[in-house]
Amino acid sequence: MKEKLIVANWKMNSDFTKAEAWVGSFLSKSSSKLNVFENVTAVVCPPNIMIDEISANVLEYSFEKVDADLTKKGKNSDDITQIELAKNVDKYRVIKIGAQNCHSEKEGAYTGDVSAKMVAEIGCEYVIIGHSERRKYHYETNETVGNKIKAVVAQEMTPILCVGESKEVRDSAKYINFVIKQLKSCVPLDVKIENLVIAYEPIWAIGTGLVPTAEEISEMVSVVKKVCDGVFSKNVKSYSILYGGSVNVKNSPEILAVEDLDGLLIGNVSLNATDFFSICSLASL
Ligand code: PGA
Repeated sequence: MKEKLIVANWKMNSDFTKAEAWVGSFLSKSSSKLNVFENVTAVVCPPNIMIDEISANVLEYSFEKVDADLTKKGKNSDDITQIELAKNVDKYRVIKIGAQNCHSEKEGAYTGDVSAKMVAEIGCEYVIIGHSERRKYHYETNETVGNKIKAVVAQEMTPILCVGESKEVRDSAKYINFVIKQLKSCVPLDVKIENLVIAYEPIWAIGTGLVPTAEEISEMVSVVKKVCDGVFSKNVKSYSILYGGSVNVKNSPEILAVEDLDGLLIGNVSLNATDFFSICSLASL
């Protein structure tokens, strides 16, 4: 069974106090149910400024767990090799960290921006690229998105590329061609991509409470799959397909049951640690 990827996109929400409580709550729930995450990778994408602290909290939790395990066996961390220690710590990293964006250039005069290297250095393994809100409010084009994917891949992180049509495009019945074109224009063919995550997020479903039917999601999953297996087959080694847009605890099982869908990208509902944890648990069933 392929692992499910469940991604929390906090957008520009939360604050340091709420973020600490969120992480504390998620970790304490995980504590008693570690096997829940056997088939699930959970990722949280907070605002950049909170990433460092969240990464540190998650790491501290992992070390505490490893220490507790070793103490039970009458050992301590000096009794095991660095490789064993790293493996054990990784086992307890129940949530991975991602950024919501980064710049395409390595460095330079880009006031207010952060590079892919910077987010990698503070513990990010994923970066959301080309979210419709970045395209709308920051005028990101498919070309910019492609360059950002290259920057993320160069730092050995996994890009989560967002694609999806507007209400007008959906109504014009040209949405399939629109998404195919968006995919082809965003994913660079001249770089090897170890892992690509593609999130199908119809703009009309984001934050609106409107959700496509399972058949509609399935139709787009097949379209994305076809493009990945065809055009991207030479440069993309493995890929996962997510759905995003008004996902909640109640509708998640039906969406997750869509064939070939590998996970979810969750905005609003992911701000609630209990709900996000419940969706991760449902995904592991
Ligand atoms: P939503 O957002 O779950 O609040 O609809 C999803 C997203 O924008 O990634």
